[in-house]
Amino acid sequence: SYRSTISYRPIRPSDLEILEKIHGDIFPIRYESEFFLNVVNGHHIVSWGAVDLSRPDDQSDELIGFVTARIILAGDSEIGDLIRPDSSKSDQTLVYILTLGVIETYRNLGIASSLIREVIKYARSISSCRAVYLHVISYNNSAICLYEKMSFKCIRKLHDFYYINGQHFDSFLFVYFINGG
Ligand code: ACO
Repeated sequence: SYRSTISYRPIRPSDLEILEKIHGDIFPIRYESEFFLNVVNGHHIVSWGAVDLSRPDDQSDELIGFVTARIILAGDSEIGDLIRPDSSKSDQTLVYILTLGVIETYRNLGIASSLIREVIKYARSISSCRAVYLHVISYNNSAICLYEKMSFKCIRKLHDFYYINGQHFDSFLFVYFINGG
């Protein structure tokens, strides 16, 4: 099976082109070149990539999936009110997932689930971190099922959160609390 040869590794500068291509292929939203540069250079962004070691040599290190995230101060976030206040409230942080994607031919193999588990593991390792959260467009049923399966809680519906090609779309805000958050 594929699954046994999928490996997870940090995203690096040599991934720039493929990372940008996959985002363009699978997301309705366009991201700036600066975003991709920040991802591959680890500039204020943490990320994990998935590769399939069983592919031919020239592709065995090519990204087939990724997750990108950012650390945010809880007080600067839109969910600060949901985090249990404590004495060190001002230091509390959150991990915000920016983008998550797997190329079509590798879907439904558990790769996105593994990528999310990496993010949760990382967030748990940060003692100030209280939750992992994200937005998902309201019609994206496969992603919504994935987050529910991973025990994220849908805590808000944001009306007209996205504006894509002249059309407004709602989003759901999903949260996974950690470290007593
Ligand atoms: N229909 C229903 N549920 C689905 C589907 C689907 N087509 N695909 C995944 N799921 C759910 C299921 O609950 C599944 O569990 P199961 O296999 O036990 O039924 C669970 O997700 C786990 O699926 P994975 O195999 O781990 O997910 P996959 O690696 O296929 O990636 C993803 C899912 C990331 C949503 C993929 O379809 C994709 O890249 N889509 C396009 C980009 C996208 O929508 N990204 C998320 C946007 S939100 C954001 O980026 C913050």
